[in-house]
Amino acid sequence: MAENLEHLFQGFSRLPREERLNRLKAMANLSDSDLDILEGRIPFDLNLAESFVENVVGYFPLPLAIASYFNIDGRDLAIPMAIEETSVVAACSGNARWIRTHEGSIQTATAGRYIIGQVQFPSVKDSKKAKKIIEQRRSELLHLANLTVPGLVRRGGGVEEITVRELPRPDGDTMMVLHVYCDPCDAMGANLINQVCESLKPHLEKWTDEKIGLCILSNLVDSKITRAEVRIPNVDPVVGHGIEEASLFAECDPYRATTHNKGVLNGIDPVVIATGNDWRAVEAGIHAYAARHGSYQPITTWRMEGTMLVGRFEGPVIVGSVGGVTKLHPTAKVCMRILKVSHAEELSRIIAAIGLVQNLGALRALSTEGIVNGHMSLHAANLAIQAGATDSELIAMKERLFALIKSEKMITLSKAKDALASLRGVATHGSTGDSSIPAK
Ligand code: MEV
Repeated sequence: MAENLEHLFQGFSRLPREERLNRLKAMANLSDSDLDILEGRIPFDLNLAESFVENVVGYFPLPLAIASYFNIDGRDLAIPMAIEETSVVAACSGNARWIRTHEGSIQTATAGRYIIGQVQFPSVKDSKKAKKIIEQRRSELLHLANLTVPGLVRRGGGVEEITVRELPRPDGDTMMVLHVYCDPCDAMGANLINQVCESLKPHLEKWTDEKIGLCILSNLVDSKITRAEVRIPNVDPVVGHGIEEASLFAECDPYRATTHNKGVLNGIDPVVIATGNDWRAVEAGIHAYAARHGSYQPITTWRMEGTMLVGRFEGPVIVGSVGGVTKLHPTAKVCMRILKVSHAEELSRIIAAIGLVQNLGALRALSTEGIVNGHMSLHAANLAIQAGATDSELIAMKERLFALIKSEKMITLSKAKDALASLRGVATHGSTGDSSIPAK
């Protein structure tokens, strides 16, 4: 039976951090050393960093938070998100909770298993002949390709299909591109497919007597698609139609679609990063998929179907649960355990769902009260710190800044500095600096 995490989620955002960690520890069976990793008591090993990249001089921490209240495909999940942007985690959790309280659902699916490798023939002398040779040598090519990835073949994956595309060049010549379709199982598969493509190059050049250019994966993986669907019954029609209108705005206007998709990626990237995956690849794939019909489109759509609000995401979310740094990065390993996910396909479905729910949060806020209020309230803490508030002054500062937001609809750093000066003036006259200081 699916685990019920309601007890973990209840009041999670209001708990002291230590208590949040305790709940998470119990839920995900984390060890003390896992908590040491999360809390930075075991710093990221720079020698390990040297094995990831070159010229290492340090590391760059991001806040890691848990989005709560998610139930995806009938399973309660705590979602680790690595992100610096204020309000994303709160919006994500808040909207997952909204779906839950409305007895809505989040369902996901995938279609297709193949990632794509490209072998480019920049300018072919005789495309007909080259295509014919490739077709005749098809099984030999598949065999040779799979010799490069024996481990993958043993796990039930490998190269299973090849196709040839012809593309007109601006100079009138013909470019030919061989697509190599590979099931990477639980890997993201970039290194695997690049190796495969490069291994085919000498054979292809010899057989076709044509010159080969680039051998590289494509991030436009339209052969491995993830879908997520949110259904929320009995939605206030004003709210529901507002969200539908926001979706239509993005469907009509690429300027809006870009920002709309940025909001989706606000949910997607943090989970991709937290699980040690390549977020640039996911971003590139999603943007390209959004433009696949020739105009840039939103990657999600929302409609009212009667009283049911229905949102849909469809796009490539190419991630791995093995390979890359997923199994090496200590924090990513803990995040995978928090998610309780071991297969890449499941991870991609969860990520798509988070993107869709994050998008719901943005559209719901934008089409009702606007985002400034919520955003600014959360931004208040940032501004208070930037203005120089100490830990003990933070609560009182936030109170003052909230009051300012209410009265003036905005706050700035200079207003925050004024508020701090005034708070300190009060404090020197005997205030305890607690949150009961009345708003101006
Ligand atoms: C801000 O990071 C993201 C939003 O702009 C997304 C959107 O407009 O849909 C709020």
